Amino acid sequence: MARLMNDAAIHTPVMLERTLELLAPALRRDGAVAVDATLGMGGHAEALLRAFPGLRLVGIDRDPDAIEIAVRRLAFAAGRLTVVRAVYDEIARALGEAGADRAGGVLFDLGVSSLQLDRVERGFAYAQDAPLDMRMDRTTGPTAADVIAEYPEARLRRIFEEYGEERLAPRYARAIVRERGAAPIRTSAQLVRIISEATPAAARRTGHPAKRVFQALRIEVNGELEALERAVPAALDALEVGGRIVVLAYQSLEDRIVKRELAARSRSTAPAGLPVELPEHRPEFRLLTRGAELASEGERARNPRSAPVRLRAAERLREAA
Ligand SMILES: C[S@@+](CC[C@H](N)C(=O)[O-])C[C@H]1O[C@@H](n2cnc3c(N)ncnc32)[C@H](O)[C@@H]1O
Repeated sequence: MARLMNDAAIHTPVMLERTLELLAPALRRDGAVAVDATLGMGGHAEALLRAFPGLRLVGIDRDPDAIEIAVRRLAFAAGRLTVVRAVYDEIARALGEAGADRAGGVLFDLGVSSLQLDRVERGFAYAQDAPLDMRMDRTTGPTAADVIAEYPEARLRRIFEEYGEERLAPRYARAIVRERGAAPIRTSAQLVRIISEATPAAARRTGHPAKRVFQALRIEVNGELEALERAVPAALDALEVGGRIVVLAYQSLEDRIVKRELAARSRSTAPAGLPVELPEHRPEFRLLTRGAELASEGERARNPRSAPVRLRAAERLREAA
């Protein structure tokens, strides 16, 4: 509910101190290159550019509105900045545009930005009435209204189940298909009404009934999980030895992908029973966090956006075999 957040919260980057601390050993050197794969409004990027005066930063975002704001905010370091409008799995291309082939650090601060949530007309928020759009890049691809209008009931049910972890997915999918037969569903208020009416009274106590359906639609419209499944390995491949990755995830599906990819590259590939570990079997990365780190209580109280965050980080130990 971005409208209820105060301005300071909206513009405060999440877990900033910890992110800087984790990336510092890899970014202190003059000419080091960092990729901010989710530039957003440039909050983390600004802090990185200020903390490391010799740093070159490659910022990626798929949202042209975010890029416009970030470029203005980061004008003080324009000579050290390359901004690329792309989906974040294109890290290698973005580095190429900056004339670099490897990075010392990569940061992902996943999900939607407060800018996207706050611009009512973009249709991300269930608490305000707006056309059902939800595209992070409004120049391309189907909108949430297209998904609601066109997907068969079984496919709607599946995305609500998988991406929203919504127990009432079958009810909601059925209600949507019934209602769209009578009149097109084009706005968030219409969708919220349909979902609310389909929710049994007992289930209304566990938060806003439309929350999970909106999350599922956003993930579907933007292909978020598929992009992340490609992006984490791409980011790990782009890191030089000693390079570090930090990922901030806000929901369990994203965090699961991050956890799996980091764990897979941080374990030995030596076959069981081999008496000595050969160099080519040694792990390529080491985890820098034990499990996922959470925001402190103080930060959560100051900035509600940080409440669900899970931070994970890793460091490259050697080149791939
Ligand atoms: C939480 S915001 C980042 C905020 C930023 N760290 C700051 O401090 O201002 C996430 C950003 O990532 C972008 N984004 C999300 N998924 C993306 C993807 N697959 N490819 C590129 N950008 C993406 C969104 O457009 C959004 O601007």
